Amino acid sequence: MKIAVASDHGGFALKEGIKEFLASRGVEIADLGTHTEQPVDYPIYGKACAEAVATGEADGGIAVCGTGIGVSIAANKVRGIRCALCTDAHMAALAKRHNNANMLALGGRTTGIEKAAEIIGTWLDTEFEGGRHQRRVDMLDEM
Ligand code: RB5
Repeated sequence: MKIAVASDHGGFALKEGIKEFLASRGVEIADLGTHTEQPVDYPIYGKACAEAVATGEADGGIAVCGTGIGVSIAANKVRGIRCALCTDAHMAALAKRHNNANMLALGGRTTGIEKAAEIIGTWLDTEFEGGRHQRRVDMLDEM
């Protein structure tokens, strides 16, 4: 499994921690930047991560900015992307079970690495339920 990760400066430190967590689980990582804490524009990184997922270059994506809000808005503009901004593992489980979220957005200034690891681990380990949820996900993908 390959996961694309990207962040702006507000998410950079958390992204680095996320890479360590993913590596500890044996996940292949595509780091799409940013690579320093110099200020950059979050739409660029949310979009880059989303495009890696939408094109199939990555199996899933994790985008991080200060709050997770900006990168989630950017990612969800890319066709085929269902990016869920999660602040706890329960949200991450439902984002996969019901929404088949193919991306997570996290906030580097709102979520610590331990919580982020719980969220990501839950998202990776949870299966989409399909059934009635498939119809709703299909509706999203038609928009
Ligand atoms: C950058 O200061 C901050 O606005 C950004 O990281 C993010 O929180 C936007 O949603």
